[in-house]
Order: sequence, then C-alpha cells, then structure tokens
Amino acid sequence: MKTVNVGILGFGTVGAGAVKLLLDNAEDIKQRVGAELRIKGIADLDTVTDRKIGYDVSGLLTGDALSLINDPDIHIIVETIGGVKPAESFVRAALGAGKSVVTANKMLIAKEGAGLMALAREKGADLLFEASVGGGIPSIDPIKNNLAANRINKIIGIVNGTTNYLLSEMKKGKNYSAALKEAQSLGYAEQDPTSDVEGFDSMYKLAILSRLCFNTEVCADDIYREGITSITDYDIKYANEMGYQIRLLAMAERTGGQIYAAVHPALVPDEHPIAGVDGVMNAVFLSSDGAGDTMYYGAGAGSLPAGSAIAGDVAEAARNILRGCRGAGAVACYNDIPVAPAESLVRRNYIRIIVRDEAGCIAAISGAFARYAVSLESIIQKNTKDGLAEVVWLTHAAEEERMRKALSEIEKIPLVDSIPSRIRVI
Ligand code: HSE
Repeated sequence: MKTVNVGILGFGTVGAGAVKLLLDNAEDIKQRVGAELRIKGIADLDTVTDRKIGYDVSGLLTGDALSLINDPDIHIIVETIGGVKPAESFVRAALGAGKSVVTANKMLIAKEGAGLMALAREKGADLLFEASVGGGIPSIDPIKNNLAANRINKIIGIVNGTTNYLLSEMKKGKNYSAALKEAQSLGYAEQDPTSDVEGFDSMYKLAILSRLCFNTEVCADDIYREGITSITDYDIKYANEMGYQIRLLAMAERTGGQIYAAVHPALVPDEHPIAGVDGVMNAVFLSSDGAGDTMYYGAGAGSLPAGSAIAGDVAEAARNILRGCRGAGAVACYNDIPVAPAESLVRRNYIRIIVRDEAGCIAAISGAFARYAVSLESIIQKNTKDGLAEVVWLTHAAEEERMRKALSEIEKIPLVDSIPSRIRVI
C-alpha cells in the first residue's frame, strides 16, 4: 500500500487533536483512503512539552517549520498555528512548492483566502479548511459537495462556542461579567476574549461561509459586526418570556442582487431549530432551493473536534493525490455580488426603553417610529418604579437606517429616560 507523508505545523490544542486522531484511527483511515497517512514531522516553537496524546512523538518534533515545507517527501502540510503571521508565509511556501495544505485558520482564509486559493489552483494543489468553521461539524464539505446542485440563499450560523456558552449561562441568571469570569476559569473563554465576544471570530467564519455559499468574494471587513457585551441577563429573561432565545448569529442572505451579511446578537423564536443550540455547541443552518432547510450541529471547538475536521481534510487531500485530481475542489468565486451596506440591513427589532410614567410618552415614541415608517408589532409595559416605566417594543422588519434615525429621535424625547437595549430579531 502507498504512503502519503504529512507535515504538521503547530502542535497546540488543534494540532495535537489532529495528530492523536491520525494515530488513534490510523488503520481505519488507511483502509478508507487506500494509503497509509504517515506523520513525518511536527513543527512547533515548543518541542519539549508533553501534549499527552498517548503517543511518544518526540522524535517527530522540530522547531523548524521550513524543514517540513521544504522536505520533498512530504505531500501534505497541515497548518494549525493560527493568525496571519507567520502562518500565511508557511501556507504560501507550501502551496508554492506544490504541496496540498490543510488549515484550521479562519482569519487567514477569511482575509487571504482569495489569493491563497488562486495560488493553490495555479499549483494544482488542494487548500482545505473544514476546521476553520464550526470545529468538528461538517459545514464546508456539505456546501462544496452535497449541496453543489443547490442555490443557497441564506446562512444562519451560531459559529462561536464562547459567546453561545456565555449567553446560555446568562440565561441561568448570571450577569455578563460573572459568566465570562467562569468561562475563563473553565478554559472556555480566552483571557483576552475580544475576538469572540466582539464578534470578530464569527465575522471571519461568516466571510468563509458566504464565499462558499454565494461563490463571490465576501470581505470580512464588509460584514456588519456587533458583539454580545451589551446584552444583559435582564433582556435574556424578557426575550425568554416572549418566546425567544438570544444568540450571537452570523447571518448572510442573497436577495435583490446583493448580499446582506451581519454578525450580531438576535432574538431567535423558540421554534427555530437554531434556538435550541445551547452552551459551547455550534450550528450552521442553510436555506437552499433544492434541499430546503438543512442544519449542521456539533462541537465548534476543542482538540478532538477540530482535529477531526483537520484529519478528514488530510484524508481528502491524500485521496486526491492518489487519484491525481488535486486542486479540483477549489472554491470558485464566479459571481460578483456586492455586499449591501450595513444601513440597508432589514431586521425586526426588540427595543427596551425606560420612560417617565406620564401621559403622552408612548404616543411620542410611537410618533417617532411612525415618522420613519417603522411599524410596531407589540408593546409591553413591564415594571413601573419611582415614576419610571420600562417599555419593551417589538417592531416589524425595518431598514437599519430608518431604525437608527427613529431611535436617535426617541432618545431626545424629554419623557424618555434611556434606551438600554436594542437587539435585532429574526
Ligand atoms: N474561539 C472559537 C469559539 C473557537 O469560541 O467558538 C475557535 O474557532
């Protein structure tokens, strides 16, 4: 039987998970692929720490990534370093040398994917990145392969486990800071959680999914982004009472010759399949013209789930080498669909306004909504205390620009004390 040699760059959580699975299930993988997948080297700055994967791989470790990239016997390079530098230069060097590359690097693929895919095509190499979105969930392969005969019109993703965990804990009554502190102590949230809680991580993943679903370049910076730091346990409680869950959504839709792409917290109706995605779990929900609505669910992060996606891509890259059809799976951006500006996003809204409990207040607010053609779906007056009342409004779908103008006018109404929350609704 043939042997396909693999070089691994980065031996952190994801790299170690991939190595463990490739070794644990080596015999099955060999039968499924038709070749032995041999790890020929693992490069990491730390060549000493025992990763506790159950195998002694010390003989494979090197501090020199280029020694693996330049090794003519290595056919596939796995990149699990993360970030753009130096990962990009390693990936470029590997593709340039005609090697197939498997990566978990969402930031790299979101920012530099177009150029890297062009390089892969030019060199007839594979560039595979299933692990970059949704960890162990197959979400990229279904779009590329199983749904290839569909026109996909909508993506709704919960693609960040950290924020989903925080929102799930806040539902139990913890406030944001307490939930974050606990998540950090359990290792679910980074010490610097910015990328997750401010929605950057979801934004990169949405750029990747949008490019695959709509076959057009979607630049991460064109995606409207809002994180979860202003969400309160209070709003979660209200939303739950009204029959909604609050989730950080990565949503993109193709409509009217444009792509509307945004990452923001949203109230999701309890009956929507994505509302049931709790804790660190992820899901990608797709609406397409043939298969209809499909949803892919599972662990979005972690050593073995992410390692599973990497190892699966290594198996695919190895099969393509054996069949002599490398580079065939590259993402083709044959469309040129513009991304609509954030002001034109159309959403329903949940708005919590603290008002003075006096005659004419609701009329003044309704008047401002009416002036900007924002139609109201329901109004609930909640608590009244010390002359102040809390009013929760649900609006019908309205364009972002009109909503912002209405809110800015409402803020100036003398009877309005404050607008603590405004969350979009799907
Ligand atoms: N930080 C990500 C999350 C995992 O919390 O889901 C890696 O993509």
